[in-house]
Amino acid sequence: MTNEQSDLLKRPIWHYIKKHKRLVALGLTWLFITNALETLVPWLVGQTLDKITADAPLREVFAIIAYIFVVIVFLSLFRFLWRVFWSTFHHTSAEDLRNRSFAGMSLLGPSFFRTRKIGQMISLISNDVNSFRMGIGPGLLVIFDGVFLIALIVPVMGSISWTWTWQTLLLMPFVPFMVKWILSRMHVQYHERQERFADLSGSAQEIVSGIRTIKGFAQETHQTAQFNVHSAAFRHSCDRVAAWDALFGPSLELPVALGSVLLLLLGTPAVMAGEVSLGQFFAFYQYIQRMVWPMSAIGIGLGQVQEARASFSRIEEVLRFQPDVPDTGDVDVAELITLEVRDLSFSYPGATLKALDGVSFRLARGECMGIVGMTGSGKSTLVELLTRQYPVPPGTILINGISVERIRLESLRRLIGVVPQDAFLFSRRVSENMALGLDDWDMDDVESAARTVRLDQEIATWPDGFEALVGERGVNLSGGQKQRMTLARAMVREAPLVILDDSLSAVDAKTEEVILKQLRDDLARTTSIVVSHRLASVRHADMILVLRAGRVESLGRHEELIRVSETYQILHEMQMQGRSG
Ligand SMILES: Nc1ncnc2c1ncn2[C@@H]1O[C@H](COP(=O)(O)OP(=O)(O)OP(=O)(O)O)[C@@H](O)[C@H]1O
Ligand SMILES: [Mg+2]
Repeated sequence: MTNEQSDLLKRPIWHYIKKHKRLVALGLTWLFITNALETLVPWLVGQTLDKITADAPLREVFAIIAYIFVVIVFLSLFRFLWRVFWSTFHHTSAEDLRNRSFAGMSLLGPSFFRTRKIGQMISLISNDVNSFRMGIGPGLLVIFDGVFLIALIVPVMGSISWTWTWQTLLLMPFVPFMVKWILSRMHVQYHERQERFADLSGSAQEIVSGIRTIKGFAQETHQTAQFNVHSAAFRHSCDRVAAWDALFGPSLELPVALGSVLLLLLGTPAVMAGEVSLGQFFAFYQYIQRMVWPMSAIGIGLGQVQEARASFSRIEEVLRFQPDVPDTGDVDVAELITLEVRDLSFSYPGATLKALDGVSFRLARGECMGIVGMTGSGKSTLVELLTRQYPVPPGTILINGISVERIRLESLRRLIGVVPQDAFLFSRRVSENMALGLDDWDMDDVESAARTVRLDQEIATWPDGFEALVGERGVNLSGGQKQRMTLARAMVREAPLVILDDSLSAVDAKTEEVILKQLRDDLARTTSIVVSHRLASVRHADMILVLRAGRVESLGRHEELIRVSETYQILHEMQMQGRSG
């Protein structure tokens, strides 16, 4: 962890203030000047009133009005200035935090994501980062705004009358606490309303995406009734938000109204007795009205800062989480001479059963190994361990005689081109998807890979061919097309070791055979591992590993396994029947 990162984790708000101290200082300076000018206005208006009541020459009255005009013009300018500095401060900080959280997430391995929902993670980089921003941006700002205004207004009020000041402001110190309490209640209700809305839209979404199932199983009435229940729950939550919302205004107005009434009671006799001028009385009245904002601002600000802290603690979890597989290696390997697995056992984090138990084999350059086994026997687990998606016990997987944890992760993952069981494509162009992870690539290689996987003719029919966008805004691909495209991706990489994990399961048996035949020709000198449910796909392999409940049941060639391996015989029989049936 870098110094900067650990400073951020210790005191996140302070970290960003320090990082942008110039912006913060400029923003606060302009804010203070704005506040001072704002405080000046009621005083100037009071002066005008006094001049009027004292029958002063019109010229003097106009002079004060001219001051008021100048102050108002400068006020607008300075407000603009502090807003610009302050918003640059919090948006820049949010950008940094968002990027850090995202980078943090992309370093994490499958064990982190297993226990978290996608929605939670998206909410982290959108809602939580935003709520942190609201805390250090508007939140901190209104606290300063409140403190500055109180510090400026109270002495001015005191200069008119300290007795009036403490008597009329007696109730004010309760305002921040009340505001904070009401806001926290409102926050709970807002959250509740959001949840209810998520239920409601989820229910609507089901109708849209599951309409065939709904009609097929005559679920229309049921689905509508369910929607109505969600709809009613949503309305109730809206009512509660509205009630708290309605309480907010009056609860602020009350202390001000009481203060004002008190001033009228105390002040009128004093004005009548000539102890205080009408203008000063008026200015004081104005200041009482103006005290409400700074008081509630402190409450609002403290609430936002508190939420920012809560959000940061969720982000912190991601930033602090250690990757499952630390990149500790320092050896680079560019070619594969041998791959050796020695007595490899593995259980998934939190699982009690072993997914792999004492697996050993040795593969040399240019060889092809098939892996077969019933579903759940550990085939994909073995593939994932070969690329170190999970931590492996030291010395159990060796490449060219070097234990994998000594090899740099990037180098290891460049060495091995895996075509995973579940194809994943990005919403980028077809060609970019095929050349994923390569800095410079040749269109010829992409085209030839497309031919190998028998995708070239289909691509030719798409509007933009290789330039077509994949996904919702472009071409929608079938399961088999996706699989073949991810296979092509591995071809383009020309990795020294290619692993296909049941990569053609969604392609019909005949096409799979054609593609694999082509692959064998293309990859004649490449080392490969082919995991498949179809024995026909592995029968030509130099050796076939049969897995059963995580253990190696047997290892040998097709002809041999048909005689000695029970699992292999079962698979063989099932597929022979499938063919004749
Ligand atoms: N992410 C995971 N966390 C916990 N257990 C897992 C995880 N993935 C797989 N397993 C378990 O490990 C065992 C082996 O699973 P694996 O995916 O390797 O099987 P497989 O041979 O690839 O099966 P299939 O032919 O269906 O693809 C199974 O018992 C499975 O339940
Ligand atoms: Mg699998």
